[in-house]
Amino acid sequence: MITAKDIEGLFGTILARIQDADLRAKTVQAWVMACERGGWKSVEDLKVMPFTLLTNTHGVNFIEHTIAVTEGAFGLAKAQENAYRKMPYKIDFDRLLAGGLLHDVGKLLEFELDGNGGFRKSLSGKCARHPISGTAVAYEVGLPDQVLNTIACHAKEGDGRPQVVETVLIHQADFGTFNPLAMMEKSTLIE
Ligand SMILES: [Fe+2]
Repeated sequence: MITAKDIEGLFGTILARIQDADLRAKTVQAWVMACERGGWKSVEDLKVMPFTLLTNTHGVNFIEHTIAVTEGAFGLAKAQENAYRKMPYKIDFDRLLAGGLLHDVGKLLEFELDGNGGFRKSLSGKCARHPISGTAVAYEVGLPDQVLNTIACHAKEGDGRPQVVETVLIHQADFGTFNPLAMMEKSTLIE
């Protein structure tokens, strides 16, 4: 079983920057619940799970991706705060960090072990992509609506939909990690 302690071990430095203790606890709780629902028994599996099945990730795992996207979105937010004389909108850093950690939590339901050392789409994943299943888990643990938006709308499901600014930043950080790999696959990434 994957416990709250395991999740804190994976994301401790980011979790520590979430000021609201309730939000921090619910973020961890959503991860634990998604691990349980997805049937994941060990964090070691999560450390070898690719973050997407849509392209070769060249070894970038699900945990590394989650950290890179969260820190990427955080960096985009900080860059604006530091560069602008006056922020035109407010960025909620708690929401940004929780949303970053949770944006792909539904992948724990969307993927499963294939029995040959690899990963494949699960029945749950065929029925509902990770933005939908992740939002369902987050709703169940009582995360706020705006955090649900960061999960529900971070991928194509959110195109053209109303979004909190934290969703916009997480989306951009997410595609900043995905697109170069997808482009390598198509030989369109120039070295
Ligand atoms: Fe992602």
